[in-house]
Amino acid sequence: MNCRKTSILCLFFTCVFFVTIYVIYFNHGPPEKILSANSKTNEYLQRVLEGDGDEEVLKSARAWNSFIEAHHYVSIGDIYDSCEEDGRKWLGKTVLLPDKERGGVTSKTFLNVTFEETLADGEFFLSVSYGGKDLYENQWKFCEMEEEDEEDRWIFCPYKPGSYSWVISRKIPNYLPKGTYKATARLTNENEDVILCGFAEFVL
Ligand SMILES: *[C@@H]1O[C@H](CO)[C@@H](O)[C@H](O)[C@H]1NC(C)=O
Repeated sequence: MNCRKTSILCLFFTCVFFVTIYVIYFNHGPPEKILSANSKTNEYLQRVLEGDGDEEVLKSARAWNSFIEAHHYVSIGDIYDSCEEDGRKWLGKTVLLPDKERGGVTSKTFLNVTFEETLADGEFFLSVSYGGKDLYENQWKFCEMEEEDEEDRWIFCPYKPGSYSWVISRKIPNYLPKGTYKATARLTNENEDVILCGFAEFVL
């Protein structure tokens, strides 16, 4: 089609094209719809709650499960004290919430951790997959991964032995294409022992 002669028509089809692309790949629908698409059960949690596991693990499962239920949160992630398939204890949860200010959805991570030793250095690993394919992978020095002037800063090294309670909000960008995202994160200490291991999965 010669675009100069039929410019109105061209404009029209270009618009239709972009609107279609937007609706198919990017329009996530209302936050309520995203939230309901993400209400699924964690099989490991079910297994532990049904009595398969030791006392400490069961206690952590109950505490975090009642926290989620009491607030009617949609849980999209779990943070454990290890990356092992079985026997890992809950230290936190990530939930999905409607983003009232900026639209779309936002994530909020609640994490209660007790450090036995001082944490002055460590490595943070993050990998993200989209639609089953690796999308992003990175590794940071934990104590240096945030900028000095970052908003919502939550890392303040060194951490003395003791208990810490963190609440970390992170916007899920509205421009992300629709699909299933999976993220794995882990934090190791100076001796390269895993001290936190998190898994999250969400559908846009
Ligand atoms: C996490 O820690 C906070 C502050 O100490 C506490 O109020 C909350 O109950 C803890 N959450 C869980 C699920 O244990």
